[in-house]
Amino acid sequence: MSSPKSVDLHTDPGLFSGLDVYAVAGNPIAHSKSPVIHQHFAEQASQKMHYGRLQPEIYSFAAAAKSFFAAGGKGMNITVPFKLDAQAFADVLSSRAKLAGAVNTLWIKAGKVFGDNTDGAGLVRDLSAQGLAIHQSRILLLGAGGAARGVIGPLLEQSPKCLVIANRSTAKADELVKLFADLAASKEVALESRSLLELEDSSTTPYPFDLVINATAAGLVDESPLTPAAAINIFVPSSFAYEMVYGKSTAFMQQALQKGARVSDGLGMLVEQAADAFLLWRGEDLATAIDSRAVLAKLRS
Ligand code: ATR
Repeated sequence: MSSPKSVDLHTDPGLFSGLDVYAVAGNPIAHSKSPVIHQHFAEQASQKMHYGRLQPEIYSFAAAAKSFFAAGGKGMNITVPFKLDAQAFADVLSSRAKLAGAVNTLWIKAGKVFGDNTDGAGLVRDLSAQGLAIHQSRILLLGAGGAARGVIGPLLEQSPKCLVIANRSTAKADELVKLFADLAASKEVALESRSLLELEDSSTTPYPFDLVINATAAGLVDESPLTPAAAINIFVPSSFAYEMVYGKSTAFMQQALQKGARVSDGLGMLVEQAADAFLLWRGEDLATAIDSRAVLAKLRS
């Protein structure tokens, strides 16, 4: 069968008879680690599947996804910039995908496309695997875009003491506070917004934070969202600084290290969100067959 222009041949289900075909869709996608992560899970759980990369053109996600599923594709992970397109594409959304406003996992069942978001659960599991107790902790979340929104629900579910959302444009942080106000109240979490500049003022930032998550896009261009004055205010040696970008020590991580804080990049979150997607596709009964921390160790080695 012929493939539309935006479908990478390595994901065309027609080429892999006898195997269930999955793919990660993004643009750009060449450097995605998702294929190797899922290959490890498939080996651990003895699953016959192929997982490739798909690079739809920027405005062609729906057409590429439609062709992929029509050709027999079973499921898809979605990364930048298509998570909102994926949400619109799904016929049935999980409640956490609705709350996250984005979808990172699609699959087909009984002719319908289901959409979920495993990013927040992946972050929470990676934090807990690294020994961070979220319950009753003081959390600062930097950023108010899709990456930030995707993790707020799962963080609130763990009942931290407070969650401060700080963004360059405060209006977007205010919107997220409104959106998650009911969930925060039900979990007894003090949910507040700040501008990034307000973080310089210790009277409006009354606590050092146990956990500071960088969910801004600043790490991608080697900038930190925190000014030097804000970083001094925010980190203490007992802080844990989590950078969603992976594979490099970013300016944000350097600021935290200078104050003696612990740091992590986002590779563990990537592996954990992939583990949840794998189980959604292949069956929760495989949870005991896969070992996400072993996969993470292999990626780091
Ligand atoms: P994503 O889906 O990756 O979250 P996004 O929705 O475009 O992408 O959001 C990017 C986030 O990074 C936003 O919070 C943005 O701040 P603004 O809302 O004020 O634009 C933030 N961001 C991007 N570059 C930044 C930088 N250099 N410093 C601080 N924040 C930055």
